[in-house]
Amino acid sequence: MNPDMYMQRLRARTDKETLAVGRRPRFFINTYGCQMNARESEQLSGALELAGFEPAPLETEADLVLYNTCCVRENAENKIIGNLGLSKFRKETKPDLIVVFCGCMAREKEMLAYLTERHGYIDIIFGTNNRRRFPEMLCKFLETGQRVIDVSDDAQTDAPESDMDARALVARHRQYKTGVNVMYGCDNFCAYCIVPYVRGRERSREPGDILREVAALADDGVKEIMLLGQNVNSYGANLKSPVTFAELLRKVNGVGKLSRIRFMTSHPKDFSDELIDALRDCEKVCKSVHLPLQSGSGRVLAAMNRRYTQEGYLALTERLRASVPGVAITTDIIVGFPGETEEDFLETLRVVNRVRFEGAFTFLYSKREGTPAAKMSDAVPAQIMKDRFKRLLETVNPIILAKNQSRVGETVQVMAEDDPPGKNGTLTGRADDNTLVHFCGKNPVAPGELLNVRITEAKTFYLTGTEA
Ligand code: SAH
Ligand code: SF4
Ligand code: F3S
Repeated sequence: MNPDMYMQRLRARTDKETLAVGRRPRFFINTYGCQMNARESEQLSGALELAGFEPAPLETEADLVLYNTCCVRENAENKIIGNLGLSKFRKETKPDLIVVFCGCMAREKEMLAYLTERHGYIDIIFGTNNRRRFPEMLCKFLETGQRVIDVSDDAQTDAPESDMDARALVARHRQYKTGVNVMYGCDNFCAYCIVPYVRGRERSREPGDILREVAALADDGVKEIMLLGQNVNSYGANLKSPVTFAELLRKVNGVGKLSRIRFMTSHPKDFSDELIDALRDCEKVCKSVHLPLQSGSGRVLAAMNRRYTQEGYLALTERLRASVPGVAITTDIIVGFPGETEEDFLETLRVVNRVRFEGAFTFLYSKREGTPAAKMSDAVPAQIMKDRFKRLLETVNPIILAKNQSRVGETVQVMAEDDPPGKNGTLTGRADDNTLVHFCGKNPVAPGELLNVRITEAKTFYLTGTEA
């Protein structure tokens, strides 16, 4: 059936309910995980609004609660299972509450079995690559009262280019910035990572579709776009007419009304010189690169199946710093990968001291069933992992603080955020490299506006300043 038919049937239902109850049914979305999930939640909000629901101000006021989940680490999953408790509890007194569970966690076999058996109050479960059939599933559930569980991978039939959902353009979390998927899935199979299993094979969207979506967003008031993919550097290789990510970036840079373009994530193994040139040349592209290191030890990198060496990584960061003045390099680091020795860990610290990252997300290794690393012996004892984690932070954070302190006295361009003003009317914004900036403005500013701010004080996680 035509997907719009389901939308019309949902709309007819919610219109009737609205007449009977005097208000539209309300939805609330709990989003976990990466930027991709954040963007996909916006698309699901768009679908729900089109179906006649309206956003609830609070989760406890919602008639439909949706959990868009992440399974990249165990603690993320535990938190989500904990948060489900609120819906379980609410359903006891509000039996018509609709509970929807979707995203990466739903695509893990054992998790799905556990959710199906032990969380009977969940009404609809779907996966990652079949989310465009959510209206159909919701319609079926409302019409039959029967639970709907479908985590199939529609990637083959559901072409990525059909992604453009006009309504999702409007249903944004923030009006002035959003993400745009350029590709889905991942084929890299890093030994520790579950993403390739839950997100499926790598597929790139056609550049024309991406550009149309970006232009439509810019026309609708978006100032900043983050181009999203698990590994944007391999974008376009498998398209009928192959395109490189650097070429795509240059095209997006040509969209008139945008002020800023970001992209995430870059895999160091195929960061081309062509991309470095594009980064240098494109005036709207923020001079910041998220370049996950994961480990500094060549031995661990090989065991992780990362396909680059410490030397290769260092050479790439040196090329970046030499070619793109002022570039900010941020990273992800995992400590305690199976078999990581003290010497391996010291190699990671060595790279941190050499590259001097502008920011770093640090993680304790988390075993994910089904990945090659889950079968590896010689797990690092928890206490040693924690100790290394602490030492890593003690190395990373002072560097970030020193870098931030060196910006005191500089004038940086900041994009105003829509956070409510703090005490004394302080506003928040983001610098080109995404550093948080708290500042005093001269005049009222609109979110998404670019301003010059003179930095007066620096902390590890933010800068303070005054509008210049
Ligand atoms: N595609 C992106 C990142 C996806 S996951 C990339 O390749 O960089 C984000 C980060 O989570 C990873 O960079 C990694 O540092 C971390 N991560 C992934 N799996 C993990 C695991 N099993 N344990 C701990 N951290 C993990
Ligand atoms: Fe996971 Fe590696 Fe793919 Fe990133 S590139 S999503 S870390 S498998
Ligand atoms: Fe998490 Fe899935 Fe993103 S596992 S990090 S939400 S791709």
